[in-house]
Amino acid sequence: MADRVTETEDTIDVRLTSIRFGARDTNLYEFSRMAGGRLPPAVAGSHVDLHLPGGLVRQYSLIQPDDAPTAYLLGVKKDPQSRGGSSFLHDKARVGDMFRISPPRNNFPLVEDAPHVLLIGGGIGITPIWCMWQRLNLLGRSVTLVYACRSRADAVFLAELDGEDGVTFHFDDENAGSVLDIEALLGRMPAGTHAFCCGPAPMLKAFEGAAASWPSDRVHVEYFTAQAEAATAGGFTIGLARSGKEVVVSPGETILAALVRAGIDAPYSCEEGVCGACMTTVLDGLPDHRDSVLTAEERAKNTKIMICCSGSKTNRLILDL
Ligand code: FES
Repeated sequence: MADRVTETEDTIDVRLTSIRFGARDTNLYEFSRMAGGRLPPAVAGSHVDLHLPGGLVRQYSLIQPDDAPTAYLLGVKKDPQSRGGSSFLHDKARVGDMFRISPPRNNFPLVEDAPHVLLIGGGIGITPIWCMWQRLNLLGRSVTLVYACRSRADAVFLAELDGEDGVTFHFDDENAGSVLDIEALLGRMPAGTHAFCCGPAPMLKAFEGAAASWPSDRVHVEYFTAQAEAATAGGFTIGLARSGKEVVVSPGETILAALVRAGIDAPYSCEEGVCGACMTTVLDGLPDHRDSVLTAEERAKNTKIMICCSGSKTNRLILDL
């Protein structure tokens, strides 16, 4: 790990202050400011970008809601398919190492005044769900939590959740290998329930299918991998309203790639349409949305675009850049 990091407007210098065992292949990593002191508020559902060596940036949910935190706790499961994020943290990161993180960003906001909230966590997707559970309990709200894992050995926060009113577990290997029946679960919820789900892609797909008849504003999903191919057909022009410059997006390029090629400074992080770092205001033209951050309503308004993956349905797209 580099010995020195530099704080910018968009990042915070932190030190890895502890690594704890969470569950099989899952560790809990705590980060604090280099000189101590408060970090920006940790709101339930939010995540930070963690900058890793080699230019890697990974998104991890915050585990503990806190208005005035002095540390952030992140849960990281070692992914056998890891492209460097979880394997670096599990195999190379050491207590005392310095990192750069973003302030928290929230693409999975909790509805704190819902009449009832159903929280569904699958595998390591329990991290934002557990954070929401703590927040709703603090507020004394009505909430049900269901935590599904392949096996009890993979379940992090098991000791904290076991025996809590409103919490149930589903372990595939204790149910003859069958996965959680999300449709039946949704069917048992009282009217007006808001349902939140974070987990592996098959679980999210099953959740969205089961909740298809629910009002969309009561169905909340958090993705950590791209759900659609990036738009790279090109053949349109980006107008940059602040500088008056124009950039042509060529076939094979994303908007972000074209801007970087043209030397334009634009914010980005995951480049997969899941983190929200590259969200940009659209002043004119129609985006071709490919991200997993905007809600259906936000997409329909066409006033925001994730430039790392979305394209344009019109010949020109004017952005507030
Ligand atoms: S960089 Fe993460 S959504 Fe675009």
